[in-house]
Amino acid sequence: MSDRAQDDTVTYVVENRIAWVSFNRPEKRNCQSPRLNRRMMQVLEELEFREDVGVLVLTGEGSAWCAGMDLKEYFRENEEKGLGAVRKAQREAYGWWERLRWYEKPTIAMVNGWCFGGAYGPLFSCDLAVAAEDAQFGLSEINWGILPGGGASKVIVELTGFRNAMYHAMMGENVDGRKAAEWGLVNEAVPADRLKARVTEIAQVLLGKNAHALRGTKWAIRRVSEMTFDNSMDYLVRTQEAANFFDSEGRKEATRQFIDDKTFKPGLGAYDLSKQR
Ligand code: ACO
Repeated sequence: MSDRAQDDTVTYVVENRIAWVSFNRPEKRNCQSPRLNRRMMQVLEELEFREDVGVLVLTGEGSAWCAGMDLKEYFRENEEKGLGAVRKAQREAYGWWERLRWYEKPTIAMVNGWCFGGAYGPLFSCDLAVAAEDAQFGLSEINWGILPGGGASKVIVELTGFRNAMYHAMMGENVDGRKAAEWGLVNEAVPADRLKARVTEIAQVLLGKNAHALRGTKWAIRRVSEMTFDNSMDYLVRTQEAANFFDSEGRKEATRQFIDDKTFKPGLGAYDLSKQR
């Protein structure tokens, strides 16, 4: 099935405030074609501000999470058309990765299988990542004669450090989910039959937190990772002040539950959101 309709290249279902979004080209190991990239942007936009969505999970149908960029439809066919087509296809891919990087809602990559090259972009875009222990991660670019572009070199050095990044990128050897977790490419690896349950557990914890604070937190972590210490301090002061101005009810209620009611302790879990006005 090589010409799956664009709308069918990504599927999603919303259950209990979790949006389960899937790369849906299992017959092509979910590699990213221009059609898939266009559809993914539409899906992300559809879900971002929906009241019934609190967490987004990105996973893949079949044996792959995502086998990178589509060597035929993304690379070869666009290169045949010329630079304009190449740039357009890049913008479509990088566009949804960027949207996901700065998504309003918390995001989790649920890496169920193959994860190669161009998949490292969306992997990094997700705030958290959980892999099946037997998932396979690779920067296979070197194996077919290119360098890890599309952000992949940046992602690997950012998440795993210089030596691991250099080895991974130069050798073209895959690592499994366990090693990916050891390296910091994902948060943790679990047996494949526990993957969805573990991701659901994490999502449920996130759903119990103040959504404004979560958004501020995830954006802060991404921003400060590229700032000096003093710039970070300044950014964080100003961001918290802005948050206090627009959304002060949450922290007031939490402070009341801790100091006055003594019904919760911030060190041991989240305050009761249902009591917030
Ligand atoms: N681009 C285009 N087609 C692909 C890609 C891809 N990245 N990955 C898989 N396919 C296609 C195959 O050509 C094949 O198509 P066909 O049925 O029309 O022949 C189909 O998907 C199934 O692939 P198989 O290779 O038969 O599946 P298998 O399970 O044996 O192997 C594996 C899976 C290891 C993922 C293999 O498909 C593979 O090596 N894919 C390429 C991975 C890769 O290097 N991606 C590019 C990274 S670099 C970048 O993204 C910039």
